[in-house]
Amino acid sequence: MIVIDERRPNEAAAAEALRMRVFGGSHLRKTSQRLREGRLPAAGLDLVAREDGALVGVVTLWNVGLGADGRPGLLLGPLAVDPELRGAGLGAQLMRVSLAKAAGRGHGAVVLVGDAPYYARFGFEAAAAGGLTLPGPFERERFLGLEIEPGWLQGAAGLVTPHGQRVMEPAQAAA
Ligand SMILES: CC(C)(COP(=O)(O)OP(=O)(O)OC[C@H]1O[C@@H](n2cnc3c(N)ncnc32)[C@H](O)[C@@H]1OP(=O)(O)O)[C@@H](O)C(=O)NCCC(=O)NCCS
Repeated sequence: MIVIDERRPNEAAAAEALRMRVFGGSHLRKTSQRLREGRLPAAGLDLVAREDGALVGVVTLWNVGLGADGRPGLLLGPLAVDPELRGAGLGAQLMRVSLAKAAGRGHGAVVLVGDAPYYARFGFEAAAAGGLTLPGPFERERFLGLEIEPGWLQGAAGLVTPHGQRVMEPAQAAA
């Protein structure tokens, strides 16, 4: 049985190992990474799929500011499913659970960079993110948005910026 749950602190290495297996490290070179590095995931929105204790899927959402007025939103990604379990609906389950949790926490909108034909089924579309830009190169047709709260992305324009809580350096943590 597969269970979707918040990632436990001791699963950080296993989650990154799955992302490395799926993306071969390319997730660390993407423009979206500039919004993630040095930040903690959004509260309650770093999710894993577990099968018999092993991680078979991951999805993480991050706090961002959506454009010049800094309205809050979320960046989704990476989303990764164990290659051996593809096509069985696990990716969709991770998407639906994470979006429901985001809505439950009062978030207004989600953006991501990904394949529009996959994400359209969850309501993502390029037009919704059309006024926004990312801090680095990106393909406009792969930069997608979804309003959880109707109208949240209306008039959103300018740069998406990192808003997540900063990861504490060991020196700070000890202070
Ligand atoms: C994309 C991914 C998360 C989907 O997970 P999954 O569990 O296989 O997805 P689901 O079972 O929910 O959905 C499968 C459906 O999505 C389609 N699909 C999968 N990847 C797709 C893509 N990149 N573009 C369009 N459709 C895609 C499949 O063809 C299948 O279609 P069907 O329902 O008509 O048969 C998974 O394939 C994966 O980890 N891929 C590599 C990493 C990646 O691309 N992550 C997303 C960043 S863009």
